[in-house]
Amino acid sequence: MKTLTINGGKRLNGEIAISGAKNSSMKIIIASILSTEPVLIHNVPYVSDVVTLLQIMRYLGTKITIDGNHTINPSKTIELHSPKIGSEMLDFTMTNRIRTSILMLGPILAKNGYVKLAKPGGCGIGDRKIDLHIMVMKRLGATVIETENFIEATTNGKQLKGTDITFPLVSVGATENAIMASVMADGETILRNVAIEPEIDDLILFLNKLGAQITKIGERELFICGVQHLGATEHSVIPDRIEAATYAVAASMTDGNMILHHCSIKVFDNMIGILSNVGVDIKPFVSKDHIEGVVVMRSNKGFNPIEIQTNPYPHFPTDLQPVLMALLAITKGTSIITENIFEDRMQHVSEFNRLGANIELQGRSAIIRGVDGLCAGTVNGTDLRASAALALCGLVANGIVTLQNAYYIDRGYQNFVRNLVRCGADVVIS
Ligand code: EPZ
Repeated sequence: MKTLTINGGKRLNGEIAISGAKNSSMKIIIASILSTEPVLIHNVPYVSDVVTLLQIMRYLGTKITIDGNHTINPSKTIELHSPKIGSEMLDFTMTNRIRTSILMLGPILAKNGYVKLAKPGGCGIGDRKIDLHIMVMKRLGATVIETENFIEATTNGKQLKGTDITFPLVSVGATENAIMASVMADGETILRNVAIEPEIDDLILFLNKLGAQITKIGERELFICGVQHLGATEHSVIPDRIEAATYAVAASMTDGNMILHHCSIKVFDNMIGILSNVGVDIKPFVSKDHIEGVVVMRSNKGFNPIEIQTNPYPHFPTDLQPVLMALLAITKGTSIITENIFEDRMQHVSEFNRLGANIELQGRSAIIRGVDGLCAGTVNGTDLRASAALALCGLVANGIVTLQNAYYIDRGYQNFVRNLVRCGADVVIS
């Protein structure tokens, strides 16, 4: 989808099935490379980033079967089998389509002893360095040659060797690459100052089901005992917390009421306090067939301004920053959001202002002076979450909002427009 035309002002009432987490599925799909046996992964969202990743995996030699005629939950069940995988085929046209391709560095190196892939490049939210990914491979004994456009790594005919690594800063991707590279390394690895997002726990659970030996030994410390072989398994991906929170905010902003299925209240764990403080009510719900969900709506006390910073889990997630900003833009009073993870993840501010928001950027902070309402206008999506947030602005705007570059939304939200329309939104795709 290229452009969304949103005729705002409709309350969103209805039911939505929350998908499996994109940021968990992608890593689990990549981790399946480490096994020579088939693995079955349930609850995979069929978003365009996953589709692109599956194309790359197929290209590298993975056999893939997709089963997905589920009516209640549109996420897919995918069987992946990688008895062999190519080492030298990821050019820029592939790695540039999804940055997550950098996570193939660890598993392909561990499996084949050699890997060459194009550098993924920056993206709409910042420079997105990969130095920590490379540092990890070197520390595990690989020789890594970096040229302007490529990374080439070899174990020099040996196995990767377990070691003790302390990350200088918390990185989700570098933690995941380190875990995947060390599960089959020779000996023991300790990883310190790791990221602890729920998606990382899901990856660890998946790898341990395959036969890996990964243990949490401290809040941000992992102990990994290398194994020789990983086998077959079946795994269901955790619900997408960012998708769930996006719909919770959408229901509240439009003064509607939604039931979100396949997503227990625990999915909101670290976000629930903040969402509740700003005026998003989230209550547990159990369907007739005993599936856990939540009911989301605007608090009867209305919205409240807030001062908040994004930081690694368990703190407020950067991925929800633009979405929260959409709500704060129409919340009376002054709110401040400081973005601490990505240096350039405030590009949406000028787009919000085109719709009548009053947001001023001061360094990495956005000073949001709540307005009574948003107006019609044409805006450009700048990345996945910013585009979803701009769509939420459109849902409450007084008039037609045209959202260009809306294809970003397809990268991470399954059936986004269909879900909104089923809940009463007036949105047309072109
Ligand atoms: C993951 O990106 C997510 N992507 C992002 O979600 C998410 O915003 C981010 O984690 C933070 O939660 C996926 O899971 C596919 P990082 P990742 O490594 O792993 C710096 C979305 O919208 N850094 O934790 O790339 C980096 O520049 C996406 O779904 C280095 O300096 O994030 C950033 O400032 C967007 N060197 C910080 O660390 C490195 O080698 C955190 O990045 C690696 C990272």
